Amino acid sequence: MENITIAIDGFSSTGKSTIAKLIAKKYNYVYVDTGAMYRAVTLFAMQNNLVTIDFLKKEDLVKQLENISLEFIFNSDLGYAEMFLNGENVEKEIRTLAVSKLVSKVATISEVRKKLVLEQQRFGEKGGVVMDGRDIGTVVFPNAELKLFMTASADKRATRRYKELLDRGDKVSFDDILFNVQERDRIDSTREDSPLLKAEDAIEFDNSDMGIAEQFERMCSLVDQKIAQN
Ligand code: DC
Repeated sequence: MENITIAIDGFSSTGKSTIAKLIAKKYNYVYVDTGAMYRAVTLFAMQNNLVTIDFLKKEDLVKQLENISLEFIFNSDLGYAEMFLNGENVEKEIRTLAVSKLVSKVATISEVRKKLVLEQQRFGEKGGVVMDGRDIGTVVFPNAELKLFMTASADKRATRRYKELLDRGDKVSFDDILFNVQERDRIDSTREDSPLLKAEDAIEFDNSDMGIAEQFERMCSLVDQKIAQN
C-alpha cells in the first residue's frame, strides 16, 4: 500500500493546521505548514525593513531570497515541527498579528512563491505528506490523491483566532482580527499568481458549525478510502 499525498487548502483560520496535524499523527505522515514558510519570509522582510503596512520593497526582497534558509525541525515535546529561519527558531514570532498583517502582501510575489513551491514539492516527493496552505491542491500537488478545502464564516474564524492570541497573552482587539481575516481572504483570493481557489476535485468542508472531532472522523474515512484505492 502506497503512501498518499493529502492537500488541505482554505481560508485563513479555518483550522487547517489543527486537522492536518491530527491526520499526520494518525497515519504517521509528515505535516508541512506552508503558511509558516510565507510567514518566515515575511518576518525576514520585516527584520530587514523591506516591508511595512505602507511599502513593500519587492525587488530588494527578491534579491535577498537566496539568503533565506527555511527549515522545519521536529519538536517531540510539541509533537510537530517548528519553523527555523536562518538557523533561528521563529515559531512564536511568525504567529503574531504583526506578521499576519503583512504576510498576504509578501505572498503575492511570484519569485517568493516559486522558491517556496519548489521546496514544498521536495518535501512531498515520496508521498506520506499532509500539506496545508492556499494553493496545495491547485499548484503544489495538482495530482494529490486527496484534496480538502476548508471554509467557515469570517466571524467564526476571527473569534477562534482572537481566542488563540488572547490565550497566548497577546493584546489584540477583536475588530483588528476580523479586519485582518477579511483582508487576507481578499488578497489571497484575488492575487494574480496562484490565488486561493478550490480545486475542482477538492472536497469542501464548511466548519462554521462543525466541531473538530466530527471533521476529523469524516476526513479519516476519506483518507482510508483513498489509501485503499491507491
Ligand atoms: O495558513 P496561514 O494563515 O499561516 O498563511 C499565512 C499567509 O500565507 C496567507 O494569508 C497567505 C499565504 N499563503 C499562501 O499564499 N500560500 C500558501 N500555500 C500558504 C500561505
